[in-house]
Amino acid sequence: MSPASAKFITFEGGEGSGKSTQARRLAARLQKDGVPTVLTREPGGSPFAERVRALLLDPATPAHGPLAEALLFSAARADHLNVAIRPALAAGAWVICDRFADSTRVYQGYAGNVPAAVLDALEHAIIGETRPDLTLVVDMDVGEGLARAHARRVAKTERNDADRFEGRDRTFHETLRQGFLDLAKANPQRCVVIDGSGSEEDVAARVWGAAQRVLGIA
Ligand SMILES: Nc1ncnc2c1ncn2[C@@H]1O[C@H](COP(=O)(O)OP(=O)(O)OP(=O)(O)O)[C@@H](O)[C@H]1O
Ligand SMILES: [Mg+2]
Repeated sequence: MSPASAKFITFEGGEGSGKSTQARRLAARLQKDGVPTVLTREPGGSPFAERVRALLLDPATPAHGPLAEALLFSAARADHLNVAIRPALAAGAWVICDRFADSTRVYQGYAGNVPAAVLDALEHAIIGETRPDLTLVVDMDVGEGLARAHARRVAKTERNDADRFEGRDRTFHETLRQGFLDLAKANPQRCVVIDGSGSEEDVAARVWGAAQRVLGIA
């Protein structure tokens, strides 16, 4: 069991919406306030899960269908929870995770048609009680998000091809956006939709306001 004060916060949303930027900023703000905080990400977050991440995101990985994807994301998540998330929460740290199970719900479920009953069963077996206290769904115009993600790759001279998901067509990304909004609506007790437009500081202020409201931070 985690100490009552340890919180589990996830960031969700489409490509380039600002999840990683805002997850970093929130972790830094909490740490500055003296809250022990662990920043992690999915897919990944543990040595095994990072290996699965490389496979899942590599454009050279052959298409294997949404069900096989959901199983791979879930295998990575099981290890990430056991190796990183649960131990951190048990030690009293807050955990901020850049993407989590809602991404599987939306990419493989809503957009990929993996039945909800299958995803329910996987979540039950893998996540169990380790559910997020707060999920920040960063919502953003699809074209703007993809442009940001593209600009980031160019700036970092990263491999200049989009990953296996980012490279999908515009309709796919519009479906994802709607999927995240629907998911937030269906889970209002833990989800807050954050407008991802404006400066990083503007968005960070919205995130902080939501965290204060939902988690009762002073
Ligand atoms: N509010 C903002 N205004 C302008 N640019 C931003 C803003 N927030 C983030 N960026 C930039 O946009 C790019 C994408 O942001 P970020 O990597 O945080 O998004 P993401 O949601 O994590 O993307 P991905 O889905 O690819 O992981 C980065 O280069 C980042 O510096
Ligand atoms: Mg990111």
